[in-house]
Amino acid sequence: MGANSLAAVVVLAAGGGTRMKSNKLPKVLHEVCGRSLVGHAVSAARELTPEQLVVVVGHQREQVQEHLAAHYPAVRTAVQEEQNGTGHAVRTALEALTADGVVLDGTVIVTAGDSPLLTGATLRRLADAHEAQQNGVTVLTAVVPEPFGYGRILRDEDGTVASIVEERDATDTQRAIAEINSGVFAFDAKLLVEALAELTTDNSQGEEYLTDTLEILRTAGHRVGAVVAEDHRDILGINDRVQLAQARRLLNDRLLERAMRAGVTVVDPATTWFDVQVTYEPDAVVLPNTQLQGATHLAEGCEVGPNSTLKDTLVGVGARVSNTTADRAEVGELASVGPYAYLRPGAKLARKSKVGTYVEVKNSELGEGAKVPHLSYIGDATIGEGSNIGAASVTVNYDGVNKHRTVIGAHCRTGSDNMFIAPVTVGDGAYTGAGSVITADVPAGALGVNRAQQRNIEGWVERKRPGTTSAQAAKAATDGAGQA
Ligand code: UD1
Ligand code: CA
Repeated sequence: MGANSLAAVVVLAAGGGTRMKSNKLPKVLHEVCGRSLVGHAVSAARELTPEQLVVVVGHQREQVQEHLAAHYPAVRTAVQEEQNGTGHAVRTALEALTADGVVLDGTVIVTAGDSPLLTGATLRRLADAHEAQQNGVTVLTAVVPEPFGYGRILRDEDGTVASIVEERDATDTQRAIAEINSGVFAFDAKLLVEALAELTTDNSQGEEYLTDTLEILRTAGHRVGAVVAEDHRDILGINDRVQLAQARRLLNDRLLERAMRAGVTVVDPATTWFDVQVTYEPDAVVLPNTQLQGATHLAEGCEVGPNSTLKDTLVGVGARVSNTTADRAEVGELASVGPYAYLRPGAKLARKSKVGTYVEVKNSELGEGAKVPHLSYIGDATIGEGSNIGAASVTVNYDGVNKHRTVIGAHCRTGSDNMFIAPVTVGDGAYTGAGSVITADVPAGALGVNRAQQRNIEGWVERKRPGTTSAQAAKAATDGAGQA
């Protein structure tokens, strides 16, 4: 027996999850910190590199299978047509493996698809203790402040585990027991098969309880062991949305603690949310009310927030991102974004570039030091290094059918309120006049202007708007001019 003796991990995820009160989403697909509940179970299981990894699916199984195929293609599923209990679910998994010619020998771990805080390390500790003690079965337990709803661990006077009784089947004295069943077990594969064959439905739910295997194996003379979780919160099982929020809070606190210990400043952990895939470097600073989602990365010394939501976004060394929503964007070293910016997929901002206030950028590249400071939409554009885009400019990329690119060269100065009617190119070092609609290419070094000649109609206000405050102001101004 050693690190590779693990024959299989079986993840139970077929239950209906009725307490979630969801019409559309199976319980195990609800998310905590950017990963589904079943995804957390699979990720923890994979850390043990078992020979077989099977997820038992049933309720809304098409959705669960599709999700697993998309995110965890190596995982096998077994279908439990009717949810006749946790024991029945495990038998279904083992039968599916046998049907595929798999012979199980060694340790089998059974874990729940609804316990997202359970780590690979805890599963490993369970498997190691199980094998070291040569048990027939070993249950992961926890002593919890509120045992309501969980199966209780019944121990003999000498402390050995005798059996598990479910909440609904327990006496008042048994309900007072604080040590509960996590729903996670290590079994000897052969003994598991034997015990499952003896399960009955003789309980308040009329289901085959996996928990009954403990008493069955013990009565048959096998060793029954228990590993008590170091932190009882690790085993939190999600049955409703209150527990879902509790689990998210707990996992988030863990993720933030890990980030802070690695040198990230988190100014307000209460309003900062990290997904599990987020990565970071020392001296990154996260300001309040900030969500970092997906594979977002914070490079050294960058500052993000406040009030920012970044998804799958890379923030470069020393960059500054404030009050910003970003999705699949890249912010270069020392670049500056916001406040109030929206970076959409494919926004790539080079070193020292700037996307300022009320600016939206999509599928566009800004060269080194390029700036779009105010009130603009930059879509499907390339802006060369050192160029400055005047306030309130739009790259008009969409003709109603197709998208077109705007290319602006290096060190350009485009005027305020420009419309770049794509496809259009502005050459290196060119200028454009404020208020221009740039419909034709501007050669390098040229000034492109496209606006009507201004015409002033003298005395118009006093003639056409007599008696208004404007007319009075105009009169005072022209009289004053006459006296001077
Ligand atoms: C179960 C345990 C209980 C333990 C608790 C820990 C039993 C009988 N009870 O109770 O002792 O304290 O977990 O959270 O085992 N499932 C299937 N097929 C089924 C039934 C359930 O796959 O036919 C799956 C569910 O999807 C879930 C897991 O098994 O992931 C546990 O089922 P659930 O109904 O949540 O059991 P609990 O009542 O929480
Ligand atoms: Ca449960």
